[in-house]
This record gives sequence, structure tokens and C-alpha cells, in this order.
Amino acid sequence: MTQSLTIRRPDDWHLHLRDGAMLEGVLPETTRHFARAIVMPNLVPPVVTGAEAAAYRERIMAALPAGARFEPLMVLYLTETTDPADVRAAAASGLVKAVKLYPAGATTNSASGVRDFDRVRGVLETMAEIGLPLCVHGEVTDPAVDIFDREAVFLERVLEPIRRATPGLRVVLEHVTTREGLDYVRGGGPDMAGTLTTHHLIINRNHILAGGIRPHYYCLPVAKRETHRLALREAATGGEGCFFLGTDSAPHADAAKESACGCAGCFTATNTLSILAHVFEEEGALDRLEGFVALNGPAFYRLPPNEERITLRKGEPLVLPARIETGAGPVTLFDPGFPLLWHVES
Ligand code: DOR
Ligand code: ZN
Repeated sequence: MTQSLTIRRPDDWHLHLRDGAMLEGVLPETTRHFARAIVMPNLVPPVVTGAEAAAYRERIMAALPAGARFEPLMVLYLTETTDPADVRAAAASGLVKAVKLYPAGATTNSASGVRDFDRVRGVLETMAEIGLPLCVHGEVTDPAVDIFDREAVFLERVLEPIRRATPGLRVVLEHVTTREGLDYVRGGGPDMAGTLTTHHLIINRNHILAGGIRPHYYCLPVAKRETHRLALREAATGGEGCFFLGTDSAPHADAAKESACGCAGCFTATNTLSILAHVFEEEGALDRLEGFVALNGPAFYRLPPNEERITLRKGEPLVLPARIETGAGPVTLFDPGFPLLWHVES
């Protein structure tokens, strides 16, 4: 029985770090284990221009814990007035590694996102030309579409037309939650990839709604029924190069989650690797963990994998705090619902 595993230091290809006191509070939870992260730009106001991304990067670097080696990979928030020339320059300088598409109204701080996809055609064409990936929040916002169907409908109504109209556009379908999403990524060829979160491998919609409403399991896209969770686990652990880890670790202060209208987001930065080791071991796929957390992502983003290694070791149940204290209030850590035996030595 495997008791320890040494792998390349992982990266997180979808992470919310926020700003100010929250950034300071949550950043060490990621830098403890991860070398790099694709940093989401849905701040208030959003990170739209290259100059705003450079300034946000500076704030992240200033908040790094002493001695941490961590590279934030910056992302621009796509709006209908985004300037293609600014995107081109921000990518050429090496600062920006992706652009994020939020359909307006789809999720947290998405009000400045895209309503009319024709209005971002010029930016998308520039991105296809220079090979800059588009990270996609794949849900329609049509109130007539059931929330559990919004990802599947997005593929047909929005993503497929965009990809047909923009040959060569490189796309990451983020936080895939359905079998339909997985199959779409699988059929998308070398310009298409999908990220999978930690929490969607653990919870289905019953965890949120059965026996009481559990706001700390509420995120977007919302967890679907069990058949989808099983398909996600198969995709994560199956060794397919088009899938890699994007935790979507999304901290909100507890007061904002435990509310009559609670925010979406699961905070998983602290225990993600222990949870994933548990899942991969259960699936008999520990030898594929490195691909999922440290190789497939860099390959898609055309970056070298990390040279540094970390070791995961199995031991006594991990003792973690239920919540992380931050200057912006306590943030409850995602509870996988089972003891975690894999410790990360880094
Ligand atoms: O659960 C989520 N939280 N999904 C998102 O798309 C946004 C994120 C956030 O920023 O809190
Ligand atoms: Zn996110």
C-alpha cells in the first residue's frame, strides 16, 4: 500500500485570491502548497486592463508570506469595451496568461461581464491569433433555464457558436460540473481543455439541500446529481490530458455565506491536496495525481512544469481549523465529510 508520494509542486489553474485583508488572509493557504495560480479577476471593480492586472499583481506580491515562492498568473476580465490592443500588449509583456469570460450576471461580481457576445468578437480574434487562452464561466444566465441545466445549455447556445466563429481560439471550460461539459471538452481537440474543482469531486446537490441547507457547499456552477459527480471523478483520475485542477477556491466571509441570500463559493485552498490524494487513492489512481495537479495544466498553458517537488505522506487524521481567520472575517474551510489522512510535506 502506497504511504508516500513525491510529485512536482502543483499549480492551481483557477483561484480567487480577492484583495486587501481577505487576500492577506487566504494567500498563505495557497502558497504553502502551490507554485503558481491563475488568479481570477472578479474583484470590485474588476481587473479589466493590463495596467490593472499589473497593479493587482503588485498587491499579491506585497501580501506574500515571508520566504514564499509563488507566481500569480494574471487574468483580464473580459468586458464589451475591452480593447484588443491592450490585451495583445498585456500578453506580449508576459504579464497576462488568460482572459476570463463571465456571462453578465452568471456569478459573483459578474455584472461587468458579457451580454452581447458579438461585441467581444475583435478581442477573441486577437486572442486566437496570439494563442492566449479564454477561461470560460460556462453557464447561461437566462432566467428561464433551470439552474441545474445552465452549463449544458451554455455549451450549445454560447460556447459552440463562439468557437465556430473564432477558429484557433484556445478555451478552458472552467469548473466543469456535468457529463455534457466533460464530453464537450473531450471532443474539442487540442485547443480545448477543462478544469475540475476539488469540491465537485466530493459533493453532489444532496450535500447542499438534503436534511437542511448547507451554505458552505453552495457554489457556482452548483453541484449536480450524483451521476455527474461520478463522471467528474472518472475524468479527474482517468489520466486524460485535457483535464486539470482549477480549485475555484472562493473565499467569502462566513457572514456573507450564512445569510438569507448567501454568496457562492467553496474555500478549499487549505485542504485541496489532501482531499485529492484521498480521491485518487480511492480510485486506484495515485500515479495519475501528478498529471492532474502539475503536468496537464502547464502543458495547455504552454508553460514549463515546476521543477520543485512536494511529498504527500499518509498518517494520522489531519487536524485542520474549521475556519481561517482573516482581517475580513472568518472563512469556513470546505469540509469533505471524511477524515483526511494525506499530509503535504513541503
Ligand atoms: O462559486 C463560485 N464562486 N463560483 C464563481 O463562479 C465565482 C466564485 C466567487 O468569486 O466567489
Ligand atoms: Zn471561480
